[in-house]
Amino acid sequence: MDKFNIAIDGPAGAGKSTIARLVAGALGFIYVDTGAMYRAVTWKVQQEGLLPDQETEVAALAERMQIELVPGEEGQQVYVDGVDVTKAIRTTAITDHVSQIASYGAIRQLLVALQKQMAISKGVVMDGRDIGTHVMPDAEIKVFLTASVKERAERRFKEMQNNGTCTLTLSELEQDIARRDQLDQNREISPLRRAHDAVLMDSTSMTIEEVVDEILGLCKNKVGGGK
Ligand code: C5P
Repeated sequence: MDKFNIAIDGPAGAGKSTIARLVAGALGFIYVDTGAMYRAVTWKVQQEGLLPDQETEVAALAERMQIELVPGEEGQQVYVDGVDVTKAIRTTAITDHVSQIASYGAIRQLLVALQKQMAISKGVVMDGRDIGTHVMPDAEIKVFLTASVKERAERRFKEMQNNGTCTLTLSELEQDIARRDQLDQNREISPLRRAHDAVLMDSTSMTIEEVVDEILGLCKNKVGGGK
């Protein structure tokens, strides 16, 4: 069976990363978390003492930096200029500014070009906001994964409590998710949209396993399953 590509888009906290990672594992494909790339740029911006609204300087910095995504057992490791930032890019200091950085045309152009490159040899499961619409418009399988804001905030809250990184209350998390949805859906360049040919999955009352099974089912029906 020939390899194919899978695009998974959707709002913050819909479970995209976990699901994309499990689907990639089941098919023996490579998982690419594109949100981590926008987070990596935001991390570097903070390291260099730039303000997120210094668009020109931010774009020049992004040109100079090197982002490496290394697939691993427990998910994707992220390196910026050789420094492991896998954990550092998940802090609220980064989350608070990432959508502003991701709204800049020059940043998107740069990262989308890298992402397209990663998809060339197929066998990739990529998650993000514009994968089905811009990065892999020809992906054989496209999924738009969503869930209610309340459910997404509750899932994030539990996850953060479990790994001891919870610095927000549930209602603060809910507000943060709604704010990012708003920014991502209304930005000028490549806003968060469901591609016309993406399958809509509302995971509000589904388990992770059910969503993974449904996506693997789509793969079987449409392209014969992979591997
Ligand atoms: O997926 P994650 O929540 O880590 O993404 C962080 C932010 O990066 C999103 O809120 C969005 O602003 C931006 N992003 C994007 N396009 C992508 C992936 C993420 O604009 N393909």
